Formats: sequence, C-alpha cells, structure tokens
Amino acid sequence: MNILVIGSGGREHALAWQCAKDNNVQRVYIAPGNAGTALEPKCQNIVLADDTKDHSTIIEFCKNKAIDMVIVGPEAPLVAGIVDACRDAGIPAWGPSAYCAKLEGSKTFAKEFMAQHNIPTAAYQGFTDAKSAKAYVSEQGAPIVIKADGLAAGKGVIVAETVTDAHNAIDDMLADNKFGDAGSRVVIEQFLQGEEASFICMIDGKNILPMATSQDHKRAFEGDTGPNTGGMGAYSPAPVVTSAVHDKVITQIIQPVVDGMNAAGHPYTGFLYAGLMIDESGNPFVIEFNCRFGDPETQPILMRLQSSMVDLVSQGLAGELPKQAKWNERPALGIVIASKGYPETSSKGDAISGLPELDPDNKSTVKVFHAGTAFANGKQPDNLDAARATDNDNDKEIVTDGGRVLCVTALADTILDAQQEALAVTGAISFEGAQYRRDIGHHAITRKLS
Ligand code: AMP
Ligand code: GLY
Repeated sequence: MNILVIGSGGREHALAWQCAKDNNVQRVYIAPGNAGTALEPKCQNIVLADDTKDHSTIIEFCKNKAIDMVIVGPEAPLVAGIVDACRDAGIPAWGPSAYCAKLEGSKTFAKEFMAQHNIPTAAYQGFTDAKSAKAYVSEQGAPIVIKADGLAAGKGVIVAETVTDAHNAIDDMLADNKFGDAGSRVVIEQFLQGEEASFICMIDGKNILPMATSQDHKRAFEGDTGPNTGGMGAYSPAPVVTSAVHDKVITQIIQPVVDGMNAAGHPYTGFLYAGLMIDESGNPFVIEFNCRFGDPETQPILMRLQSSMVDLVSQGLAGELPKQAKWNERPALGIVIASKGYPETSSKGDAISGLPELDPDNKSTVKVFHAGTAFANGKQPDNLDAARATDNDNDKEIVTDGGRVLCVTALADTILDAQQEALAVTGAISFEGAQYRRDIGHHAITRKLS
C-alpha cells in the first residue's frame, strides 16, 4: 500500500511512523513533512500545493502514485474540504467533510450544535461588536473566557482573570483585529472549573473507536502558567478519565455528535477530538471540539498503539471500525521542545544538536518526533539511506523551522518514569533558545503520589 499523510507536525511524524511500521505498506509520502519524517524508513517528503484550498495537485499526486489512503493531520485542509474533494475524485481519505469540520472551524457552529443536541458545555454568547461584548463581560464578571470564532492555531483563547483583561482581549480581537478574520466574531464563555483531558476517537459515520485517553499541557510555562500554546507536552492515559467518566463522555458527548451529524445528513467520519473539563463530580463538559487528532497527544497515544494504524483507518473507511484497539498498558509521555519566542513568535534556522541515534527497528522506548524541523539551507541529503545510517551527521544538518520543534516521547512503567526518561533525552538536545517544561504529567504524578 501507498499512503499520503498531509501535514508537517509532530502529529504527522507519529502518524507516518505508525503507518510505515505496517508490513503491507511500501511507501508513506508526507506533504510537506519535516526533517524527522524524511529520515523515517519507507517515508518520503513531497511538496504539493501550499494553498490548503487547492486540492487538485493532491488529487493528481494520489492518482499518479496509486495512493491507497490519505490521512489528513491538521484542521485547515479539513475545514477547506480536502476530504470531500478526494472522495469526489474516488480517493479514500480519512477525515471529516468540510461540513463536519465546522465543529472545529467555527466556535459558534460548535456551540449551537452542542446546544441543539444537549451536549454539556459552558454557557456562552457570541458577539461581533466590542461594546456589547464588553457590556456582557461587565455583567457576568470574571474569570471569564474570550475566544476568537475561527481557527487560530490554539492561541485564540484568553482566560481572563479580571474584567479589565477580558475587555482588553475583546479589543484585541474585535477592534484591533489581532487574530485577523478568525477574531471578527468572539464567543464569550462561562469559566469552567475542573481537570482537563483530551478524548479522541475514530468515527466511521456510525461506529465509535475511542483512542487511549490523554491530557495535554496548553500553557507555555511550568505550573500551567503563561499564555496558551498549541500544547507543550502530553501523556496517555489520563487517570482523570475513570471508566465512569469514559462512559459519560461516550453517551453524553460522542454519541450525540454521531447522531446529530447523521440527522443533519452529514455523517461524521475521521478523528474527533473532544477537549474536556471534568468537574469534581466526574461530569465532563466540552471545552472545544477538534476535527482531527491532537498535537502533541498523538505522539504519546501512538507510542502506545499496538494495532495497525493502517488497518484501523482501512476499517474506518469501510464503515467497519472495531469497538477497541490494542494498547500497550504502559503509559507514554511526550515533552515538546519549542523555539525561542514561542508562542508569540518562533525562530528558524538554529542548528539542533544532541538528537539520539535513529532507531529504524523501533527498539527504543524513547522516540523523538519532529515538528518544526528542516534540513540546513532547505537541502535534503542526496542520499537519505546514507543519512539514516550515519547518526552523527544527521544532528548537524537539522535546524529549527517553527514554534514547536520536537516532541520527546517515552514509554515506561509509570508516568513518572516516562517523564524522567523523556527529560533525560530532552536535556541532551540543544539549540539556541530551546524551551520546554519539566513538569509535563504533573496532574497524574501527584494523583498517584497522593
Ligand atoms: P481551546 O482552544 O478552546 O481548547 O482553549 C484553550 C484552553 O483554554 C483550554 O485548554 C482551557 O485550558 C482553557 N479554556 C477554554 N475554555 C475554557 C472555559 N470555558 N473554562 C475554563 N478554561 C477554558
Ligand atoms: N493539543 C491540543 C490540540 O491538538 O488542539
């Protein structure tokens, strides 16, 4: 089989790596990929159209290379209808249609859908005008949450501790246009208390296959402080999702999405990610829906996956998802190393050193997934097989190329062991301005210790 993975992050590296492990797979193409995906056995980066809305080059490529399956990583092409375009061209593509992807693409659509289907979530109101938004905040008081309506790469959410902070966030989004079109409409939400978890599943229009549970760390700094990011680390499983919570998530949240989309005439297919707040009584509330796998949750989750990702997606495309996948019982934990200035800015072109040796046979329990990495001067080594074999040189040729650069992911007997193993490898990797959190997994670790 030949597979095309769309995207360039750590999530796509993990997806491509899992697909390449399957004996039935000859080649995994990644568009555009990163230095890590280029060095993965059986994998090849390719450059297709930069414009997420232009699906014609992707379709042509799939036909030329006899692609058996397209797996779409990020939200932007999904929201732009890549799965619809592939299906119309007869190419099996795993992901939701543009209609279903609005669950992530528009917070207003998601909130209205949840209200219509009685899915538990924070009370909210939508605004396009700063004056009425501010009046609403003054009436509600703080803490309160201000969200840009459209896609903002996980950064368009301000949890305001004071009414003044909330007013400033409204001005940033509605008056100063800081988030562009994504912020021309805001959703203002009640502040939810509890512990967060990520609940990701595969859906084939009717069957639900839950992935192992996980939790990510969205804030930039230790102790869950600082600005929101795309995610600074994650681990799986998340002990806060007990089996009672798991049952509630399926019956109160995931099944109503499946039923609601079917009722709307748009069956949901693909990964669905519910970002949850779980209150003290174990009741889950949806903070957000994403129409894709999480990043960095994918990295620890797929470290634990023992079923073939390719089989699961094939079954999903056929509408025959099994009820369960096979998981390694050991937990996994991933630490993101971000570049200088992230999340406000990011730096490119800084040489990365100290990467561990490549591990083509997957013997190691630590895997470094690449995200914002590239080869120096944009030049991929002429002979990739040779580059794969000579570990020392690999380090020197790889440079930073974005905000989140690497995700060091370890599988171990306990979450604390996985954290320590990931930290040991993380500490050996260096580049100018590298930043990472040393406390990934702290909720689960303190829960176990107490
Ligand atoms: P989102 O991009 O919607 O997932 O929001 C990013 C982060 O902001 C979440 O992971 C939460 O930590 C926080 N957040 C978002 N909405 C709320 C809410 N209603 N109450 C409390 N925290 C929230
Ligand atoms: N880790 C959060 C996300 O994928 O949106």
